[in-house]
Formats: sequence, C-alpha cells, structure tokens
Amino acid sequence: MKPAENNSSIPENFKNFKAEVKVASPGRINLIGEHTDYNQGFVMPSAIDKKIHFKFRKNDSDNLVRIYSETFETYVEFDLNQISKRKKSWENYLLGVIDEIKKVGKKFKGFDCIIKSELPIGAGISSSAALECGFAGGLNSLFDLNLSQMEIVKLSQRAENNFVGNNCGIMDQFASVMSKKDHFIKLDCQSLEAEFIPAEIQNCKLLLLNTNVSHNLADSEYNTRRQECENAVAIIQKKYTEVNSLRQVSFEMLEEFKEKIGPISLKRCRYVLEENKRVQDTEKALRSGDLKALGKLMYASHRGLQHQYEVSCPELDFLVDFSEDKSFIYGSRMMGGGFGGCTINLIETDKIEHYVEEVEKAYQEKFNITPTPITVVPDAGTQITKV
Ligand code: GLA
Repeated sequence: MKPAENNSSIPENFKNFKAEVKVASPGRINLIGEHTDYNQGFVMPSAIDKKIHFKFRKNDSDNLVRIYSETFETYVEFDLNQISKRKKSWENYLLGVIDEIKKVGKKFKGFDCIIKSELPIGAGISSSAALECGFAGGLNSLFDLNLSQMEIVKLSQRAENNFVGNNCGIMDQFASVMSKKDHFIKLDCQSLEAEFIPAEIQNCKLLLLNTNVSHNLADSEYNTRRQECENAVAIIQKKYTEVNSLRQVSFEMLEEFKEKIGPISLKRCRYVLEENKRVQDTEKALRSGDLKALGKLMYASHRGLQHQYEVSCPELDFLVDFSEDKSFIYGSRMMGGGFGGCTINLIETDKIEHYVEEVEKAYQEKFNITPTPITVVPDAGTQITKV
C-alpha cells in the first residue's frame, strides 16, 4: 500500500470513534539539572497537568494504521510494513515508536488513533516525549504487548535517537511515564534510580513563561554540547580507565587535563559537575522547605547555562534578568535544551497575575513578541484507560 498523503479526507467512521484505549500523556518540567542526563548525572523533573490525549481502537486490518491529529487537523495513513521517515516531524515520533516496538519483536495489527494536544511545541516542555510515550503506552495496552514502563521509556528514547535523529537523554521520557502527582523525581541517570521528593512549595506556584521563540540552533548545538563533554571524557579515560562519563570525573581531574581538554570543553564540563551538585543541594532545600535556597540554585543553574554551557538566548536571559530583583520570585531559569522555549519561575501565588501583566509588557516592548504564561502542577505520569 502506498502511504496516503496528509490532509486526505478523514474516514467517515472516525466521526463516531469508539475508543478501546484512552491515554493521557503529560509534558514535563525540570526544576533543575539541565544537560546532565546524557552525562549520566542527576535531574529533577516532573510530569505536568498539561497533556496529549490519545484514543485508540483496532481496525480489523492486518497492517493499516490511520491517525488523525485534531491539533493539526491532519489525517495520515500508513502501512505497518512500510515504515520510513516522513516530512512532518510529529509523524516521525510515532513511526519511530512503531519501528522500535517491532525491533523488540512485538507484533500487532492495524489500528486507528486520534490525537489531541494541549502542549505547545518547541516550548521545552517535551511534547515529543509525551507523543512517543503516550503512543507506545496506548499500543502496549491495545495489543497486550506486555512492555514494562521502563521498556516504554527506553524504546521511546531510542525512537527519538534512531528515527527522529535527536540525540536526547532519558529525562523527558522517564518523567512523562514515571512521575507521581505532587512530586519531583530526583533521577540518577546512571543507575536510573528515582527518588520521589514531595513538591512542597508552600505559598508559591510554578509559572512557565514561554518566550515563543525556538532558535534553529537547538538541534545542532545540542549534539555539539554532547560531543564536547564526550571529548573530555575520552581524554581523561586514557589515564583513568574507570571513567566512562562525566559522572566519574572530579574537578581535580578536569584541572589535571585542562590543557588537553581545551577552554571550551572545560567550561562545559565544569558546568555539568556544578549542576549535578546543584541537584543534590536542591533536594536538601526542598526537603527542608527552604525556598530561598532553592531559588538561588535555580538562578545559579541559569547563569551556568548562559555563560558556561552557552545554550541560552537573549529572550530567555531577559525573562530571568527581569525576575531577579523581584522578592516574590524565588528562582527563575531556562528549562530544557535551550535556545528558546520556557523559563520556569518559582513565584508567590498571589503575585502571579500582576507579574504576568508586567513581564508581558516589558517583553513585548523589547522583542515585539507576547510571551505565554503557563502555570503548572507536578502531576502523575502516563494515564492509560481500557474502555
Ligand atoms: C532536552 C532533552 C533532554 C535533556 C534536556 C536538557 O529536553 O530531550 O534529554 O538533555 O534537553 O537538560
């Protein structure tokens, strides 16, 4: 069967879609621990109360897949035996998941799916992981594939690495699947051990401010940063053979090899080691209810990302700078891969409305773009219902 073109007309019977499985698949925030996941370090994400919703049903065919995106008002069909890269990136996340499920030897048949998203794209809240993990979870349930949650996390990450071509770490997929309501996850990306830390943020809320920019440096620079860290590891490894990631590297080792590593890689690595330490300190601050200390760590993380890791951009820096002298904002930082997307702000609840007005005005004046405020709550990972 030839793949149908996008925008071909929706099958009549999609209008009375009787779902067999429904999935709510969340986006994620990350309180702290940025660009540490692929360096086998620590992160502190959580799923959020904004999601992608899926409905699935079998369609009695052997190989026909029919998908309608309500968000893009786009319909697409393809043959399960002819999985190849498509032009539209959202389709590739789904095709990548199918490809990876097939690679682990699981078999399934034709199905229909409707997708509706509440997640802004390119905002650094990982609509891509929500798409991959929700789709994988839905197929797992529809066809009783017996994949564990961890297998879903890992195959979704592989779909993004292998099929889409983003060399991402594991944080987003882990958070989207494994989170617990009202908790942050302190995830050790080396052992994949997770601790759930109550998100007790007292009189505050988490406010995201979407810069509504997404600079196209993001993908190439992401891979470059990974490479810069891995280059340093390769140098250190020659003497210290037990080292296989920055996780086993100390500041002393960086100092010892600083000439060979070179100034750029050196500052990337120092940032990663410092950020890992900040995640540990954030856990302490959260557990002891010290929001001031927590906020300071968020600012320090941003400055590291801005000056040492160099993945911020003027729009993100503006929003963080703007918050810094406001006593009712404890902390603010860019979130996710960088070069656009959102800042995450720990802000007193009763000041949000006024602050949003103020920051919108200032940002609009400076960049001629309106930022989008999104308040979020740490929420549970993927929810799957068999109807
Ligand atoms: C993106 C990637 C994650 C992580 C962050 C940066 O969201 O998908 O794996 O590396 O960037 O912390």
